[in-house]
Amino acid sequence: MAIERTISIIKPDAVAKDVIGQIYSRFENNGLKVIAAKMKQLSRAEAEGFYAVHKERPFFADLVAFMTSGPVMIQVLSGDNAVAKNRELMGATNPKEAAAGTIRADFAESIDANAVHGSDSLENAAIEIAYFFDDSEICPR
Ligand code: PPS
Repeated sequence: MAIERTISIIKPDAVAKDVIGQIYSRFENNGLKVIAAKMKQLSRAEAEGFYAVHKERPFFADLVAFMTSGPVMIQVLSGDNAVAKNRELMGATNPKEAAAGTIRADFAESIDANAVHGSDSLENAAIEIAYFFDDSEICPR
């Protein structure tokens, strides 16, 4: 096992439902420490930049509109195998396919309002962390 860092974003639907604390409990109860965090209203340009890899996909405009529809809570998580662990806690992209007990199964309504984002690889985690956080904002512990 290696200590990794990953990005988690609690999306506007979950922020609006006031389940930030419940989602943080899942991280903390499963060995993922929050080492940086910020609540942010994303601009359209920030959301488009973050999801640029998906810009040719048919849902891109809807995804950007959703991610700018309200504030998001963005955190850097640290722990053993953090990238895969966070993805496991999140569950499948489509909440209807997400395993019971996962964040998306419990808190998400649909594939476009699916409660959380998590980096899908260590390489993308580094890119996504740098997109939202300066080194000085991260508190390793
Ligand atoms: S993955 O893991 O990148 O393969 O997931 P993918 O299915 O490709 O989805 C990428 C992100 O796009 C969101 N998504 C959608 N948004 C709006 N409408 C539709 N139909 C839709 N399908 C997928 C999905 O929630 C993923 O967002 P993130 O934030 O990366 O989880």
